[in-house]
Amino acid sequence: MDTLRALSEGVLPPAGNRIALSTAESNAVQSLFPDRVLSWTNSGTSALALALLAIRRDAPEVDQPEVIIPAYCCPDLVSAALYAGYTPVFSDLAKDRCHYDQEALKRALSERTLAVIAINFLGVAEPIKSLRVALNRPSVAIIEDNAQWFPSKPQVQTTAADYQTFSFGRGKPVNLLGGGLLVSSNDPPRQPGTAKGSALQRGLYYGKCMAYNTLLHPTMYQALARNPWLRLGETRYHEHTSIEAFPAGQAHLVRANIQTYWSHERRAEKSYRKHLAAINLLAPQIEASEERLLRYPLLLESRETRNALLHKLNERGLGATTLYSDTIDRVNDVPQQRLRQAGDNANAASFAQRFLTLPVHEGVKAHHIERTLTVIDCVVG
Ligand SMILES: Cc1ncc(COP(=O)(O)O)c(C=O)c1O
Repeated sequence: MDTLRALSEGVLPPAGNRIALSTAESNAVQSLFPDRVLSWTNSGTSALALALLAIRRDAPEVDQPEVIIPAYCCPDLVSAALYAGYTPVFSDLAKDRCHYDQEALKRALSERTLAVIAINFLGVAEPIKSLRVALNRPSVAIIEDNAQWFPSKPQVQTTAADYQTFSFGRGKPVNLLGGGLLVSSNDPPRQPGTAKGSALQRGLYYGKCMAYNTLLHPTMYQALARNPWLRLGETRYHEHTSIEAFPAGQAHLVRANIQTYWSHERRAEKSYRKHLAAINLLAPQIEASEERLLRYPLLLESRETRNALLHKLNERGLGATTLYSDTIDRVNDVPQQRLRQAGDNANAASFAQRFLTLPVHEGVKAHHIERTLTVIDCVVG
């Protein structure tokens, strides 16, 4: 009976708003960053790589440069660093936090450090000003990686970071199935521009968007999620091979999708912020800001509770994930010998074992929220 019910309810995707398919010419993004240079790329990884190339260009005296990344992060940071000719140096998180341990970060610095990548973690921003004070090295550039965040409203953005990057990839806040953006104060060494693209390519792209929108429905998505061969959502390293232009099809959809993103209700997010604060070790960080969350980040007391919860939620198709399953050096296919480990990673390793995400996208309905909270109540008490 339970199996039949689970099948009829389907599986919620962990992230992913539908793609709005109305086209418009737009400078919607430039108005968020009025005095900054915008460089549009084919992905968030390319935007990061471009920022790193710009930083290298400005410090030609440093050979074999290093960039510091968090010990728990997306392997695309490693891909971008290696592409741009850096050694990625991974540094621990603060205890029960999704951001750097600033003391560990200081110890990770070397004469070769040119940059630090600070992650906006699912909508929870790294405090850049305090990072800069801790670093106390004006020559080290800070890149704010916003792949998991986009401004919540049409308001001019300010930042203490030197570079900001964004992603328009699958499952990102403004989801165009691909694309990236670098925001900087100077021209980067390359300006990839916008690809022209033929009418056929654009037609195929819109077809892909329509198929994607259909697959987001829980009854459709379960065909993918319950198929063990597909290993959906598995974290894996991919080598980055080129920086390319922002695809033409995507360019016409930017405006509509930003506006759609801004118009989404935040029902699931608000409910989880309210009901899960008592059990979530990340609650103080989450509550420090009103920014939209891409997924609800939940850090539990123990690995056993996390695993039990993950199992029960996913048995019921409620879209929970561990995000990255382990610290960056242990992610599948990461070329470990090309990374440098700075100090121990005890906090990041413990974080990886106790962390999960809950979906908060537009497809999460009242009954999903209710069922999620019921399961959490049963498991965590
Ligand atoms: C924190 C972070 N940075 C960078 C990226 C890379 O973005 P893209 O997939 O557009 O290359 C991702 C992608 O998931 C990410 O989560």
